[in-house]
Amino acid sequence: MATYIVLLGPPGAGKGTQAKLIAEKLGLAHISSGDLFRENLKAQTELGILAQSYMTKGELVPDDVTIAMIRDRLSRPDCAQGALLDGFPRTPAQADALATMLASLGGSVKCVPLIAVPAAVLIERLSGRWSCRAAGHVYHEKFNPPKQAGICDLDGSELYQREDDKLETVQNRIAVYERQTAPLIEYYRQRGLLVEVDGARPIEEVGADLLAVVTR
Ligand code: AP5
Repeated sequence: MATYIVLLGPPGAGKGTQAKLIAEKLGLAHISSGDLFRENLKAQTELGILAQSYMTKGELVPDDVTIAMIRDRLSRPDCAQGALLDGFPRTPAQADALATMLASLGGSVKCVPLIAVPAAVLIERLSGRWSCRAAGHVYHEKFNPPKQAGICDLDGSELYQREDDKLETVQNRIAVYERQTAPLIEYYRQRGLLVEVDGARPIEEVGADLLAVVTR
């Protein structure tokens, strides 16, 4: 049966960093809703242009379009073994929709690791983040620097700083997380799926704990 894992955590907690590593180790598709919106924006699709108007303010893109995008993504062949969801769901309505989608595929969420990180640490992480243009590989100028400044170690593409990593937008993204996404902690706790991992430690230590959680 396919395995579906939801990675939960505030902006900058390290979801993308860890999801790439874990999905590869477990042979699961890595589905990042933020990356899907950014790909749509790059291709100037209607969805990408709509999403941008919310992302630049640090607000959530409306549930209906986000849910439709994930439904389509989950139906692709590379999700046959399952998927690691990073950044989705972000509201209780999205979580309900995910449960329905997975039920129609004959599956359900296996577990929900929460990467817990204090707000002050999040701001430092996001202000020093650099992402690669080709595939979204993530670096940090202090905590995880590339071998050569401005160049991705893995594919040689240019590194850039995200528009929504400006301090004012980051502060709003954290507030939006507290208001709209944090209720999912209780949502998944009540269903016996939530496992909290201390994310305020080096990348390797957090990764080892997450791997233990998702493989048990
Ligand atoms: P999205 O792209 O999902 O952003 P996010 O959730 O805010 O998460 P981030 O990508 O900022 O952080 P991350 O947790 O992945 O951390 P990372 O690994 O990069 O969403 C962007 C926008 O799209 C949203 O604001 C919204 O508008 C829209 N959107 C997306 N999904 C949506 C949905 N479901 N519904 C509605 N709207 C949606 O790490 C951060 C930095 O820290 C990096 O530099 C990294 O190198 C470093 N780092 C990572 N781990 C560690 C560590 N352990 N120690 C030190 N440094 C670390």
